[in-house]
Amino acid sequence: MKVTIIGPGAIGTLLAAFLARKNNEVWLLDKYTERALKIGKGGIRVEGLTKINAKVKTTSEAKEIGHQDAVILCVKSYDTEEAIKKTGALVKEDTLVLTLQNGIGNTQILNDIIGEDQVLAGITSQAATIIRPGVVRHTGKGETVIGRTTKKPLGRARVLLELLNKAGMPTRTTKDINSLIWSKLIINSGINAISAITRLKNGALLDYPAARELMRQAVSEAARVAKRKRIRLNYDDPIQKVESVCKASGENLSSMLQDVLRKKKTEIDFINGAIVRQGKSLNIATTVNETLTNLIKTIENSYQQQQ
Ligand code: PAF
Repeated sequence: MKVTIIGPGAIGTLLAAFLARKNNEVWLLDKYTERALKIGKGGIRVEGLTKINAKVKTTSEAKEIGHQDAVILCVKSYDTEEAIKKTGALVKEDTLVLTLQNGIGNTQILNDIIGEDQVLAGITSQAATIIRPGVVRHTGKGETVIGRTTKKPLGRARVLLELLNKAGMPTRTTKDINSLIWSKLIINSGINAISAITRLKNGALLDYPAARELMRQAVSEAARVAKRKRIRLNYDDPIQKVESVCKASGENLSSMLQDVLRKKKTEIDFINGAIVRQGKSLNIATTVNETLTNLIKTIENSYQQQQ
C-alpha cells in the first residue's frame, strides 16, 4: 500500500517506522528540505519500548511522490491547512486522508478542502518523543481509534484499520470519533498548558495542590462546554480521568511542554483556545482556559527574550 505520512514529528516518525518495517511503500513528507534529506539519508530509528531501524523515502516536494492510497496527517494543528493544500498529486478521489492530530478543528479543515467522504479522524494513545530528526523514543503504548467524521459506514476505509494493525499499532474503529476527539481534548486541556507553564512532567502536576486545582478548573470548564454540545465523553468523571492520565503518563513531558522547551509554536489555539472559542459561542465562562491560553501565547511570543 502506498502511504505518505505528513510531518516527521514524534508520532509521524514512529508511524513511518512501524509501517516501513512491514514493507509498505512509505514516504515521509516534510516542509523542510534539509531535514527531509537528512532523514532520508540516515533512515529512521525508534528507541525505547520498540526498537526499529527503517529506511523511508523523504521529500519536501509532494510532486515527487505521486498518487497515494492513504495520507496520514501528523503535522501540528496550526500547519494542517497549509500542509493539505500542498499535497497536490498525492490526493486523488480514491485517496484516504487520516488525521492523527491533537485538538479540535483539523477534521473541519480537511473536510472543507478534501471532502468528507475521503477524510477519517483518529486519536492515538501511543506516546513518543523526538530525540533528533529521524530518531524517536517510543515512550507509551496504547490503542489508536479511527472513524469517519460523518455517519457513513467505514467501507473501504477499513484498509487503514488493517494497515495500522498489521504494522503493530493496535487500532479499532468507532462510529463516534467526535466523542473520542473531545474526550482527548478535555484531557489535553487539563495537562498540556499547565505542564508547559510549570515545566513539570505529567505525573508531577499531581504533587502540587495549586497546579492540581488549576487542572480541575480547566477540565471542568471544558467538560461543561462538551456537555452543552451534547458530546458523549468516553469516561464518567473528567477530573478523575485527567488525573489518571497524569499518573499513567507520569514520566512524560506533554507535547506542549516539549514544544515550549524547543521554543516552538504550540497547539494552544486548538486545545485551550478552542475551548474558549466554543465557550464564547455558547455563553459558557472559560476563564481558566482563557488565562492558560494567554500565558502560553506570552511564552511563545517571548522566546527571544527568555534565557
Ligand atoms: O499531548 C500530549 O502530550 C498527550 O496527549 C498527553 C495525553 C497529555 C500525554 O502527555
